[in-house]
Amino acid sequence: MGSFTREERIMRRVIGLAKRGTGMVSPNPLVGAVLFKDGIRIGEGYHQQFGGPHAEVNAIGSVESPSDLRGSELFVNLEPCSHWGKTPPCTRLIIESGIRKVYIANTDPFPQVNGEGIRQLREAGIEVVTGVMEREGAELNRAFFHAQTHRRPWVTIKVATTLDGRMATRTGDSKWITGELAREDVQWLRFAHDGILTGAGTVRTDNPSLTVRLKGISKQPWRIILDTKAALPLTSQVFSDSWSSRTLWYTSASPDDGRERIPVNEENGKADLAQVMKDLFGRGIHLVLAEAGPTLVSSLIRTGFADELIIYMAPKLTGNGPAFFRADSGMDRLADALVLEPVSSSAAGHDLKLTYRFRRS
Ligand SMILES: NC(=O)c1ccc[n+]([C@@H]2O[C@H](COP(=O)([O-])OP(=O)(O)OC[C@H]3O[C@@H](n4cnc5c(N)ncnc54)[C@H](OP(=O)(O)O)[C@@H]3O)[C@@H](O)[C@H]2O)c1
Repeated sequence: MGSFTREERIMRRVIGLAKRGTGMVSPNPLVGAVLFKDGIRIGEGYHQQFGGPHAEVNAIGSVESPSDLRGSELFVNLEPCSHWGKTPPCTRLIIESGIRKVYIANTDPFPQVNGEGIRQLREAGIEVVTGVMEREGAELNRAFFHAQTHRRPWVTIKVATTLDGRMATRTGDSKWITGELAREDVQWLRFAHDGILTGAGTVRTDNPSLTVRLKGISKQPWRIILDTKAALPLTSQVFSDSWSSRTLWYTSASPDDGRERIPVNEENGKADLAQVMKDLFGRGIHLVLAEAGPTLVSSLIRTGFADELIIYMAPKLTGNGPAFFRADSGMDRLADALVLEPVSSSAAGHDLKLTYRFRRS
């Protein structure tokens, strides 16, 4: 704690509050806000639900005596919005509340804000300090910033492997490689994402539901299925269970079986990933978790659509079965290897959870 300034300590609290919106606010960013008056915290809040009030509104609304707002300081991790969206502009509320100083971690790249929020506050005579815990704020909302900049979703690949890197045995058996704690962690990962992406191979072999089965959670992510030739049976869980309306089915074929399909072009005989990503972005699906077999996982990595990799590695050796990555052409020398950036490692029961980022050149 000692090495942080007062502003940084408060912004850490703001970021902690923002995280409480995980899984509920996308495609909006995670935002928290704290209000201080004369060194005392008088209010705080966070963006709780997509379409709901912004963090600043909730923080201001939490202040017991509204007169305390005059001359107070607002800490918020993202530049306040300056436009009419699903809610009125936060800048207006801040100005009208009499707040005298605003601390911000990151400017908002959203085209309708992008510095305009800060400009409006300054024009109204409010002191604005930017860049407080900027790196931490950027990390928190990496998917939001990425989607705004690249116009495509942030894709995290999740794989369960043995210690010798296999995703299944030679016969295709992959249930279960990892233990209960790792699988529960995956449930939270699913909850934090807008959509779960998989390929026809996994649906055919495992017939997964790809749903969130956590107590008290009713929100389900989209299931995104790439089935180029529309060869998957209607009886697959993703098409027939009670969440079938939450399945997006991408195919280049046009079968007449009543299923709603999303047409996609073929690229080398498979669904064109660039087109799929563009379509997902257009639907507001900005956080994608790929839970696929080695074929689709390898395609995502080779085409550069993979941003993050999470490996749950079990202390098991099978000595056979596919690894999760197959290169297109020979990576014969180590100098040709893809080098990932390690992010974190932790234990999930007897398994290891390893997180990496793909480096962009
Ligand atoms: N351990 C784990 O974490 C884990 C996770 C999932 C699966 N698995 C295991 O993986 C095995 C299945 O592997 P898999 O490789 O067949 O499954 P997959 O990668 O999930 O599916 C591959 C199929 O997806 C379709 N596809 C459509 N567009 C694609 C594209 N652009 N790139 C790549 N594929 C595309 C293709 O089928 P069409 O041509 O018919 O469209 C392709 O054959 C099973 O044994 C399963 O248990 C393990």
